[in-house]
Amino acid sequence: MTARPTLASPVACVFDAYGTLFDVSRMVEPYRDRLGEKTALLAKLWREKQLQYTWLRSLMGAYVDFWHVTGEALDYALGVLGLDDPRLRALLMQLYLAPPLFDDVNATLTTLKAKGLRTAILSNGSTTMLTGAVNGHNLRGVLDLVISVDEAQIFKPHPSVYKLATDKLGVPAEKILFVSSNGWDAHAARHIGFHVAWVNRSDQLRETIPDPPDFEIRSLSDLPRLLGF
Ligand code: LAC
Repeated sequence: MTARPTLASPVACVFDAYGTLFDVSRMVEPYRDRLGEKTALLAKLWREKQLQYTWLRSLMGAYVDFWHVTGEALDYALGVLGLDDPRLRALLMQLYLAPPLFDDVNATLTTLKAKGLRTAILSNGSTTMLTGAVNGHNLRGVLDLVISVDEAQIFKPHPSVYKLATDKLGVPAEKILFVSSNGWDAHAARHIGFHVAWVNRSDQLRETIPDPPDFEIRSLSDLPRLLGF
């Protein structure tokens, strides 16, 4: 068997950010003492509402950046849980400027770079949010590009977002392996022609929409082997 037969030798790996590189599920943990038994529900509601608002705003033609959407989603989640506390709100928002990194990110990106692949982030995150997260974890040296949807003024899964990656890398979609832990993002990227690895970190069911990802892996540590390294 040759090294990377099924992927037609990708020249670039493009990563989703939140949920894939940065662990939003445990982000509110520093405030567990304050949030108590509402901790897990706040994390879940906040993330679900954040994504819903990106989709709604895209359909409405009412783009504002991800920082703004994240704040609106937090206001909703805090409201549902009866947590009216402006100081807590401000502290929770700051978490998005320095989200925790999954353990498998550094080693995987380092390996991919050492093997000559180009690497990029393509994310809903605003430029400011992504800059904070990437610089905070010293990822600049293992990433060639950090691409925010700010440049398209619409959120994933609009095709023009994924096109940012092909345009900026100067690489056709079929030469890119897109990597996301968000199932809907994985399908959307496959739909426009990327090869896709879905990082199913938490044993989710497959989405039932068209264009399933080519590969399902459990962690980013599976990626080098998938690529034949
Ligand atoms: C992102 C969201 C989808 O980083 O997690 O684009």
